[in-house]
Amino acid sequence: MADKQFWVELPDGSRTPHEVPSDMGLSLMEALKALDYPVEATCGGMALCATCRIEWQDGNLPEPSDAELDMLDTLPDARSTSRLSCQIRLTDISDGSTFRVHALEWNQGNAPTGQQA
Ligand code: FES
Repeated sequence: MADKQFWVELPDGSRTPHEVPSDMGLSLMEALKALDYPVEATCGGMALCATCRIEWQDGNLPEPSDAELDMLDTLPDARSTSRLSCQIRLTDISDGSTFRVHALEWNQGNAPTGQQA
């Protein structure tokens, strides 16, 4: 089973390493949900809600699709590093990639403990 390693940065700047199987066809959003990060993903991965947004910090990944860019364009605070995690396949990111999650729940004390998948 192939594994993909990446780091998730929380809004407080702390980083947690993860290693997840990359041969199951999962999106990054699905991996984050499996790791208990509070990613809402209310549209189920259709690039229609932006509640799976992340800020890419380091590592290689494909260019965003037109649908992803269209959704990001609707966000008032989108940056050049903003991406929709539902549109990124685990197989397409480089090992050691790092990104910051956007989740309102961090402010409510619900940050995960950083368990491995
Ligand atoms: S889950 Fe809705 S845009 Fe990603």
